[in-house]
Formats: sequence, structure tokens, C-alpha cells
Amino acid sequence: MADRLKQLAGYATLPWHCLQLATHAKSFQDNPVLGSRRLNEMGLHLKRRQWAMNMATWRRQQLTPRLRPQEHHDFERDGFFLREQALSPHTFAALTAEVRQLRAQGWEMRQGKAVTRRISLDSDVLAQNPGCGAFVQDQSVRDLIAYASSNTGGITYQLQSIMVDAVDPHQDPQTRLHADTFHPTAKAWLFLDDVEEDEGPFSYVPGSHRLTPARLDWEYEKSIGAATSTEQMHREGSFRIEERELPSLGLAPPRRFAVRANTLVVADTSGFHARCPSLQSSHRVEIYASLRRNPFLPWRGAHLFALPMICEHHMLWDIRLKRLMGFDKRSHWKFLDTLNAYDSPYI
Ligand SMILES: [Fe+2]
Repeated sequence: MADRLKQLAGYATLPWHCLQLATHAKSFQDNPVLGSRRLNEMGLHLKRRQWAMNMATWRRQQLTPRLRPQEHHDFERDGFFLREQALSPHTFAALTAEVRQLRAQGWEMRQGKAVTRRISLDSDVLAQNPGCGAFVQDQSVRDLIAYASSNTGGITYQLQSIMVDAVDPHQDPQTRLHADTFHPTAKAWLFLDDVEEDEGPFSYVPGSHRLTPARLDWEYEKSIGAATSTEQMHREGSFRIEERELPSLGLAPPRRFAVRANTLVVADTSGFHARCPSLQSSHRVEIYASLRRNPFLPWRGAHLFALPMICEHHMLWDIRLKRLMGFDKRSHWKFLDTLNAYDSPYI
């Protein structure tokens, strides 16, 4: 009887799961169509990957004139933008002084010995913090994020703290090289503190944003049986890769971003990346931005989450939606009423 009910429920949700094929849905375990071994053997994941890349290439062509030619060239080669001394010394000093005083509502999440804290830079926070406001409004930074994501509008900005006790790599799942999803998507960091080699710097495999024939073969192999993988992140559509596999894809070892404060990195995180293990206790603060959209649309903006009433009040909507869906109790993220980026972890 239970099996019969489960089967009927499967039929009832089939149209919904089919519709998700045309979205950024990526979980092989949550969607029996995306996760179907048979369909992926026939090339379902591969086709989605190729279509998404083709559409991203099309959208990026419209955005190219916004970039400096050298930055465009570097991104096409590497998959990331890198700006050292991103802000003038005076602007950066004012920004960091402001962040040290800033207190607002935020989230914290613990993964092993690593704690991530985020404070959403929404319009109410920016009204009190003009240095953060100026960075969020900076059009040249927005253009980099838009190009990496192949979309415009609705970028979310957060003040992020990464606090790590010295760990072995197995206690921080972010230290395994992985692709976030199956289509171009952007993450950006303006580092407000120096990041030393042994303090868990961000790392990225140069050129791993390109969909080469070798990468397509790898994606095909990974998609078969992904729904029943023993690894949770793999089942959720965020494929992991071992560093020793990189040469077979024609890729070099990852570049480690041990950087000085005031460095900006914007990456297409469909390329392989990770946080290196932190060999000593560390606490760094950065302005973190992200932009992920439906990868199959031919237009760049015009998205519900790009409406100012939503993207400028990210925190408010996140709390509302999680409560509405009942996720607030199950989420790994815990809301905290008043936080400063440099406080010690609360969870
Ligand atoms: Fe990631």
C-alpha cells in the first residue's frame, strides 16, 4: 500500500519535475527526472549543460562592451576577474572603518570547524553605511559580476565572515574542489583583510569554466548514477573533483588566492574551486556577492528576484520565505538579531 501511494505521488509530481528541466534546478536526488539514470545515459544532463552554456555565451556577448579589454581577455582564459587595490586607499580605509562598527541582523552556519556569518547589505543597512553603499552601487564591479554570471540585475551583497579553527580538510566540506552547478554563475569577494597562505584562501582551477570535450565527457560520467551517489553534494548537483583528475581534463592545478586586503575576485563558479584548508585559526571578513539565474533564458535581466523591492530587502524576504515554507527550523543557517562581522562565532 505504501509503495502504491508513493508511486501515485510520483505520477502527480511528474509535470512539476519536468518543468524544472527548464530552470536552474540541479538536484539529482530531489528530482527523479533530472536524476534518472536512463535519461542521463541518453544525454539529458549533457544537453542541459550544453544548452545552458550556449545561452550564457549569447548573453555574455551583449555584456562584453562593458568590460575593460584586458579584463575580458583574462576572464575568457581563466574564468575569474582579479583586481588588486580594487578601491582607492582612502575609500577602502573608510569602508573598513565603517564595517568594524556595523551591527545588524544576520545568519551563521557551522560546517565542521568552519563558521560562516553573513549580514545582508540591504537598503536599510546601506542607508546607515555609505561606504558599503558606494561599493554596492559601483557599476564597474557590477559589470564584472554580470559578465561572470552572464546575467544582470538582482545581485545580492552580503558582509561575510569566515571563521575557522585549524582543521583537517574533512571537517570543512568547502575544501574539496567542486563546481557549484551546471551553468555559469557568479560569486565575488572584496577581501577586507589580508588572506595568508595558511588561512584557507579561495582557490580556482584556471580555465575550468570552459566546456571542453574532455569536460563534457567528465560531466556525462558524473551524471550517471548521480542520484544515488554516496556523496550528498554530488547528489545535489554540485560535482566534486579530485586534484589528480585535473590533468585528464587538460587543466592545471588550482591557483590559490592568498591576497592582500582590498583585492577583488569575481569568479564563474561553474568552474572548479574550493576553500583551501586553514592550517591555523583564522577570521577574515569580505564583502561577498552572488548572482545566479535561470540559465536558459535569452534575456539578461527582467527576473522576479531582480526587482528592487525584493533584491534590496534580501534578508526580509529570506526570513519570510523560510518561515512560510517551514525551512527556518530545518535550515543550517541560524538567524541572529545583532551581529558585527568581527564578533566571535555565536554557534
Ligand atoms: Fe562553491
